[in-house]
Amino acid sequence: MGQAWGFSGFGGSEVQEFFERPDPAPGRGEVLIRVDVAGVNPLDHLLRAGLVPGLDGGRPFPRVLGMEAAGTVLALGEDVEGLEVGDAVFGFALTGGGTYAETTVLSAANTARIPAGLSATVAATLPVAGTTAVDALDQLGLPAGATILVNGVGGGVGLAVARLAAARGLRVLGTGSAAKREQAEAAGVRFVDYTAEDVVTTVRSLVPAGIDGIVDLVGGASLRTVAPLAREPRTVISVGDQSVAELGGRFVERRLDRANLERSAQLALDGVLAPVITAVHPLSDAPAALATVERGHAAGKVVIKVT
Ligand SMILES: NC(=O)c1ccc[n+]([C@@H]2O[C@H](COP(=O)([O-])OP(=O)(O)OC[C@H]3O[C@@H](n4cnc5c(N)ncnc54)[C@H](OP(=O)(O)O)[C@@H]3O)[C@@H](O)[C@H]2O)c1
Repeated sequence: MGQAWGFSGFGGSEVQEFFERPDPAPGRGEVLIRVDVAGVNPLDHLLRAGLVPGLDGGRPFPRVLGMEAAGTVLALGEDVEGLEVGDAVFGFALTGGGTYAETTVLSAANTARIPAGLSATVAATLPVAGTTAVDALDQLGLPAGATILVNGVGGGVGLAVARLAAARGLRVLGTGSAAKREQAEAAGVRFVDYTAEDVVTTVRSLVPAGIDGIVDLVGGASLRTVAPLAREPRTVISVGDQSVAELGGRFVERRLDRANLERSAQLALDGVLAPVITAVHPLSDAPAALATVERGHAAGKVVIKVT
């Protein structure tokens, strides 16, 4: 048995609850882990609200929140390759096991060993934000010297995109509110405060020929405001808003496999993808951790340290 935090039905924060659950049995292709650290993501509250039915695993309620974690392998299901009991690992809980818990199951194909020298706290942030940043930039494929705009640069994915883009030799512009300026500038970003200036006017004055690529983390009206700044619509990649296709842009193509996790871990070890972790909460404080992200203005990555 172990403590877990999740939700008793689809809804808002009122359906959230702590409960005890037996250690889940790892199914075919899964590993049971003792969770050390769980990453907190916007997807978690979207799943709780019932807005992402394809990803919720269809498990009975109460369900456990959380999609990513780092921890130690306690048991292997059938047909697990490349992982052993006792390994320190990080990865995705794609089948609905949830990671805001003392133990959970991860999909082995979407789980990798944590390399020596990388902390569990950093590793826990890589499956969602880290690999998304890698995927978005790979999809854009911009050469060194090109200019990129990161819309929503201050959050978990945005800062990762900015750091990675700067390391690839791109000129990086990023939008965020004033509290995000310092972290963004430390990542090499020409910061544009969308609460204090007109983003379109500022960006056009900085890059009159147009932006070579946009990675959007905000969506909605904000995406529609910045998209025309791109020289070509297909170089607008949104990570959260599928309606980007209506603008001629593309939704991010995700690779959740072990190879991409290993690649992101190496980038983190190299200091290129070092996440900015702004809050570490104990499991007992999980409601506050998720509330921070749910408000929509989180800075960097928020994690839950379980053990
Ligand atoms: N497709 C995938 O596989 C995938 C993977 C990861 C994330 N996502 C999605 O990508 C989005 C971002 O994820 P995240 O983890 O980076 O979220 P996050 O950590 O919550 O960060 C979002 C950031 O956007 C900023 N923001 C909000 N409104 C803005 C605006 N109008 N203009 C500029 N910035 C604004 C927020 O702070 P300020 O307003 O204070 O600047 C915040 O820093 C979410 O929708 C998430 O679901 C999708």
